[in-house]
Amino acid sequence: MEFLKHFPVLTEPQVKTLFQHSREISYALRQDSSILFPEPLAQDGQTIRYQFIELPPPLIEQMQAQNSLEDDMRHIGCALALIHKGATTHDRTLLHGDFVPHNVFLQSGKIIIIDPHLPENLPFSEALLYGDRRRDVTAFIFGIFSDVGLKRALKHYRYYNHLARWFLSGYASACPVRPFLLPVLTYGKDVYVMKCKAHFSCMNSLAHCVGAGLATLCVIWSYQCRRKS
Ligand SMILES: Nc1ncnc2c1ncn2[C@@H]1O[C@H](COP(=O)(O)OP(=O)(O)O)[C@@H](O)[C@H]1O
Ligand SMILES: [Mg+2]
Repeated sequence: MEFLKHFPVLTEPQVKTLFQHSREISYALRQDSSILFPEPLAQDGQTIRYQFIELPPPLIEQMQAQNSLEDDMRHIGCALALIHKGATTHDRTLLHGDFVPHNVFLQSGKIIIIDPHLPENLPFSEALLYGDRRRDVTAFIFGIFSDVGLKRALKHYRYYNHLARWFLSGYASACPVRPFLLPVLTYGKDVYVMKCKAHFSCMNSLAHCVGAGLATLCVIWSYQCRRKS
């Protein structure tokens, strides 16, 4: 069975780049049998054909239920590091491109990662597929606070902060992380633009992005301070 992913607003050469990019991710993740990624089978015009995978309930549901996810979060961090260490024909780092909790699933000790494409509301940019690895790290931590609902995340800050720190420590065990600011600001701005384009009120979107951005910065900076002390 196949899963067809259609990109109506992209040109064929852009979809070809996406296809090549997803093959590189598939290759990078093949080294670890506990991480599954749907095989990119072919590109037909503006469509990419992927292997169909029977997906379990989304990770977001487990995060909302506040399940104990320490090992899983570390595992997800390691999976992202594996992508970033992946071989590519580009001279910059291989990125996932949309590494948010919505694109990650857990299945009996395994991780399934899907959708390595830029969010639809952002203009196509190769720099978001091959570039600054801090963007993917930011996207996941930002998503932990944003995707479960910012109000809920702030109300239960301790739990979501732990999730983010476990993810970061899994990632940092394979790829070093130093404190950073700019990628968080850029990512927050991009989410703001996407939310406004998706017809959320701009005031609400701004408050949401500032809240999730600050929570992301707190995780990244406090993680380093704790490691030093
Ligand atoms: N390879 C796949 N096999 C089976 N279902 C998939 C596959 N890829 C995506 N899906 C399903 O389609 C949904 C949306 O796909 P996704 O690629 O994440 O697109 P987007 O986030 O842009 O809507 C996913 O949440 C998942 O339920
Ligand atoms: Mg998706």
